[in-house]
Amino acid sequence: MKRVLIAAGMAFAMFQATANAAVDEEWAKSGAKEHGCLNCHAIDKKKMGPAWQDVGAKYNGKTAADLAASIKGKPIHAKPTKDMPAKEVEQMAEWILTLAK
Ligand code: HEC
Repeated sequence: MKRVLIAAGMAFAMFQATANAAVDEEWAKSGAKEHGCLNCHAIDKKKMGPAWQDVGAKYNGKTAADLAASIKGKPIHAKPTKDMPAKEVEQMAEWILTLAK
């Protein structure tokens, strides 16, 4: 019985680890499109704003919360983030940090 519990606990821990690590990429991409982020940004090249794959390098060692605060703090983002709950901006930031080359 004890063994079964340990196995179940491990499976749960593994499930949690995967759930935390993976930001839903499809969700993030469609959100970036929907909120107009992609009018000014691309993942792999500079447009009006920086290429998102370069942002990760700048935020090396920092958290998604740091990046989310920066995104929300920029006046140019007032409009695109207006309808986004804080949590959504943070998840988007987390995804952007996974794009680093
Ligand atoms: C109207 C154009 C425009 C739109 C729309 C826009 N951005 Fe930006 N973004 C910029 C510009 C310009 C910069 C660079 C400004 C600066 O560094 O002060 C920037 C910077 C950034 C950065 C780098 C922040 C940093 O601290 O280096 C991230 C990440 C980012 N934008 C994400 C987003 C996301 C996510 C959205 C959609 C919710 C979005 N942007 C929508 C123009 C835009």
